[in-house]
Amino acid sequence: MIHFTEKMESLSRPTLFDFHGVCMTNYFTDNWENVQNFRARPDDIVLASYPKAGNTWVSYILDLLYFGQTSPERQGSVPLHERVPFLEIQMSGYPSGVDVLNELTTYPRIIKTHLPVQFLPKSFWEQNSKIIYVARNAKDSAVSYFHFDRMNKVQPEPGSWESFLQRFVEGKMVFGSWYEHVRGWWEKKQSCSNILYLFYEDLIEDTEQELVRICSFLGLSPTTELKKQVTEKVQFDNMKNNKMVNGSADEVFDLKISPFMRKGRVGDWKNHFTVQQDEQFNEDYKKKMKNTDLQFRTVL
Ligand code: PPS
Repeated sequence: MIHFTEKMESLSRPTLFDFHGVCMTNYFTDNWENVQNFRARPDDIVLASYPKAGNTWVSYILDLLYFGQTSPERQGSVPLHERVPFLEIQMSGYPSGVDVLNELTTYPRIIKTHLPVQFLPKSFWEQNSKIIYVARNAKDSAVSYFHFDRMNKVQPEPGSWESFLQRFVEGKMVFGSWYEHVRGWWEKKQSCSNILYLFYEDLIEDTEQELVRICSFLGLSPTTELKKQVTEKVQFDNMKNNKMVNGSADEVFDLKISPFMRKGRVGDWKNHFTVQQDEQFNEDYKKKMKNTDLQFRTVL
């Protein structure tokens, strides 16, 4: 058995490199062949997002909907990242996402991924697995990603906020360009009825309404009581205080630097962007997003 300190010593902050046109780190490409050859099942549910869009939030909603009543003991003993494995992850000393998924005994499998649409293993399309994509406005995504890279010891060094924001605009982030990610999945959704495209801002505004949309997409009919319970459990403060979902169980996070459940708001970007950064960002945004009807809210 590998000891925790030995595991951490073999892990370090990685460098970014170009991988088929997308910036990636070795932790998400080392298992590439097994990821690409992953054998999906028709009842798999893929939860895809660009980093920091609310993947954990929706993971927990799905986990509670499917297993909250049938396996309540899981809720207090198995961390969410083990219940909803991360498909493409591969870190020395830990089982890969693919291995964990292949060993899962619960059905359906809820699968986390940050892959851009062109990298999703083809088996998911062949099996017609259901896919939920969560998107969040660019400014809050950038801020959340910055704080995440500060506290996550297996992400590249974030540097200063200014330099980080510049890299975000250039798409030099792990999992590539936010702009290409959200647009790629949006375009795919137009021709694919098995994709539900959700927005973080809608979840904040009316969690229960989005829960109803999720259930209707998945063909679930939860009781009013269950809907109430799930909505309550997934509120930011309740998740923040829940050790199984708040990142406490994740050894690569340094929660003293920044909590995983950090702010959970729309508009925190206003506390980070200077007026000049905002103007430059908006100008560039218009160019990058000009040929799409995909729209985000940056304030509520
Ligand atoms: S990751 O690491 O990429 O999988 O991160 P992800 O889970 O996609 O996104 C993390 C951000 O989502 C916020 N979050 C929530 N906001 C509101 N309500 C709830 N329940 C909730 N759960 C997670 C989390 O706080 C991160 O955003 P920031 O802005 O950093 O707070």
